[in-house]
Amino acid sequence: GTADIGVTGLAVMGANLARNFARNGYTVALHNRSRARTDALVAEHGHEGEFVATETLEELVQSLAAPRRVLIMVKAGQPVDDVIEQLVPLLETGDIVIDAGNSHYEDTRRREAALAEKGLHFVGVGVSGGEEGALNGPAIMPGGPKESYTALGPMLEKIAADFDGEPCCAWVGTDGAGHYVKMVHNGIEYADMQVIGEAYDLLRQVAGMEPEEQAQVFTAWNQTDLASYLIEITAEVLSQVDAETGRPLVDVIVDEAGQKGTGRWTAISGLDVGSPVAAIAESVFARSLSSQPQVRARARELLAAGTEGSGTPAPSDREAFVEDVRQALFASKLVAYAQGLDMLSAAAAEYGWSLDLGTIASLWRDGCIIRADLLDVIMRAFGGRDTDRHPEPGTRAEGQPANLLFAPEFTQAIAEALPSWRRVVATAVAAGVPVPVFSSALAYYDGLRAERLPAALIQGQRDFFGAHTYRRTDRDGSFHTQWSGDRTEVQS
Ligand code: 6PG
Repeated sequence: GTADIGVTGLAVMGANLARNFARNGYTVALHNRSRARTDALVAEHGHEGEFVATETLEELVQSLAAPRRVLIMVKAGQPVDDVIEQLVPLLETGDIVIDAGNSHYEDTRRREAALAEKGLHFVGVGVSGGEEGALNGPAIMPGGPKESYTALGPMLEKIAADFDGEPCCAWVGTDGAGHYVKMVHNGIEYADMQVIGEAYDLLRQVAGMEPEEQAQVFTAWNQTDLASYLIEITAEVLSQVDAETGRPLVDVIVDEAGQKGTGRWTAISGLDVGSPVAAIAESVFARSLSSQPQVRARARELLAAGTEGSGTPAPSDREAFVEDVRQALFASKLVAYAQGLDMLSAAAAEYGWSLDLGTIASLWRDGCIIRADLLDVIMRAFGGRDTDRHPEPGTRAEGQPANLLFAPEFTQAIAEALPSWRRVVATAVAAGVPVPVFSSALAYYDGLRAERLPAALIQGQRDFFGAHTYRRTDRDGSFHTQWSGDRTEVQS
């Protein structure tokens, strides 16, 4: 065969990636479980490049030049295993199987190990940017064996988004690292969406600003250091008027947020690797809470507001309030990034990956859902993009801050945002407007910088009921107080 790459699974993401390859000059072999989709793609878009329509996976594999590159774009989970099982007997040593879906990184680690035993490369690839990105340039986060990148990387870089001449694609690390990085991207995406939601809610409920007016605020914010794709589309959504009712569309949409799992996985993994990704987790919980309409209805009947007076006092200076909310949004967003990047280091230590945070941030500067001006600043805070920099698993390369917030530009930015951030959280609490991520991010910040944490008391409690021992501030060793005896201290 002569085709450069085969794509199996031609729902919209697979079809768009296939078209993207073809538009970039690659010959793309196509396969789908039902042939109709393959034919439709060729009929509608055949003129965009070289396609080879195939009927079976055998035919797909036969149409490819060696080393064969087969990209799977099917629903995460069992369907991926099913396709792999059929593909493997058809492939030869050195061939590359690519999973570009939102697979769980543990599945990717398992699949990579299994295929490596057969002399095949399995590459889990994170792809972000939705349908539009897949077609015109997504952010791409490939993992898998480094050797595979020689044959695969250039093709992925060609179809990826481009930021100032640099592709939003680079090998990120072995086995499941690509899918892990994409998962964390989605966790940050959840938090970013939630903080925008909290800002909207405050502007609405505290400042009484209607969606149309808010659209202008978000458009203006998009000219500040908040500039990002998600802020931009927020303005679009807020200005949309429902054709049927004439009301703002956002008021017609049911307020229950869906989720497909990647945010939840991020929170779970954060717990697993012991990384405090509280702001990200809160954004997942906020979606879960929203999706319990019956409980919420009952709560509205039963639970008091406890806020003073009727309704919320309008802020005396609306403009100042809007700016406060903007600052709170920015600071909370930074914390979500700090937490997400931190869990990458923790996971790198756990799974033996060498993850370079500067390079990873560079991949998110364009093409993906969290693309934002801020990511270029974050990248620079981590020493810029350097695809040859491979820090020891779990460590950061020399000169990279131990926490994003420690980078001088962010220490400064947060210091400036703090008075606003505290005012906004206090106002929200007094008004009874839920701001789980604004407040959780602030608690993380205060927790980080606290002189003493109540963890000392918790250690005392643990020692009391379970003889779990504690360490002392003034001496080395582990100690236990004989709580049920004479309460003298013993060294253990
Ligand atoms: C992206 C998106 C994409 C998708 C997710 C999130 O980076 O292009 O994250 O992967 O929209 O499925 O969706 P949920 O909000 O449904 O979990």
